[in-house]
Amino acid sequence: MWKVDEGPDARTGAPPGTPGTANPRLRMLADLVADGDVVVLSGAGLSTESGIPDYRGETGRMRRAEPMTYQTFVGSAAARRRYWARSHLGWRHIAGALPNAGHRAVAGLQERGLVGGIITQNVDGLHHAAGARDVIELHGGLDRVRCLSCGRRTSRHELERRLGEANPGWHAHARTAVINPDGDAVLDDDLVEAFRIVDCRDCGGVLKPDVIFFGENVPGPRVQECYELVERAGLLLVLGSSLTVMSGYRFVRRAAEHGIPVAIVNQGPTRGDGDALLTLDAPLGPTLAALAAALDPAR
Ligand SMILES: NC(=O)c1ccc[n+]([C@@H]2O[C@H](COP(=O)([O-])OP(=O)(O)OC[C@H]3O[C@@H](n4cnc5c(N)ncnc54)[C@H](O)[C@@H]3O)[C@@H](O)[C@H]2O)c1
Ligand SMILES: [Zn+2]
Repeated sequence: MWKVDEGPDARTGAPPGTPGTANPRLRMLADLVADGDVVVLSGAGLSTESGIPDYRGETGRMRRAEPMTYQTFVGSAAARRRYWARSHLGWRHIAGALPNAGHRAVAGLQERGLVGGIITQNVDGLHHAAGARDVIELHGGLDRVRCLSCGRRTSRHELERRLGEANPGWHAHARTAVINPDGDAVLDDDLVEAFRIVDCRDCGGVLKPDVIFFGENVPGPRVQECYELVERAGLLLVLGSSLTVMSGYRFVRRAAEHGIPVAIVNQGPTRGDGDALLTLDAPLGPTLAALAAALDPAR
């Protein structure tokens, strides 16, 4: 796979490793994006520069715990307590994360009318936080909670307040070493056992974050909406996803089947590389900022 030039950018003199517009691959990408109708498919790699680890990149290798599966969560009260205890700690980290240059560049391209749709596999809300509109959150969002019995959705902030009230003083004892991608944190067993979870205020049902766990399917209409977006696209632009999970990869396959060009910006290989017209192995923040600058009509 092509790598970012190691030398300084010829035009801007930017330090080595900074993708510049003199870079031919970036120029090619800018030409493709300039034609418009771009549909973005983003993954965890877009948020690592905001301090949220991914699963399969460098930051994800430090993960200790396995991600929660739907079956475990639904089948075990102890598993739910462990999930919410860890997540109650990890939430501060996720809620405090800020969008990075990559999210801002995507929102800027949308603002200029070049992006026809944004599908994200991320659950961190950072596309919205950067000002992007109509983002399809394929796997849901951590900022809301759903009751498994009555289906009512409530805000995560409200749940955090209730969890805080149910566990006075708990935070002071909790020390966390590792924050995991899904807003989970590694926690001692005694602290998990001391943690009290809360149920749906309306019906007493089990509360689950409004995200798709492993072992759970994305709702059919949401998938269909994404397929329709992809089929209308002039370019499918994958940002920061290994595409290991079929849930995202299927859109790359659909684009390829319809003869729609696919471009991938990702550090390291992805499952979609063979389907792509263009791959760029480069850090997303500086690369997308350079892309946005290259497309800036004011230049
Ligand atoms: N931020 C989040 O919301 C978040 C974080 C982790 C996982 N998840 C969930 O887990 C699943 C993970 O699959 P995925 O394909 O999105 O992620 P992934 O972890 O499988 O792949 C991320 C890819 O991004 C690359 N990468 C990391 N930082 C980068 C950077 N700064 N610039 C360029 N490339 C970079 C990595 O090398 C890796 O190949 C998703 O379904 C998602 O729902 C979400
Ligand atoms: Zn309920």
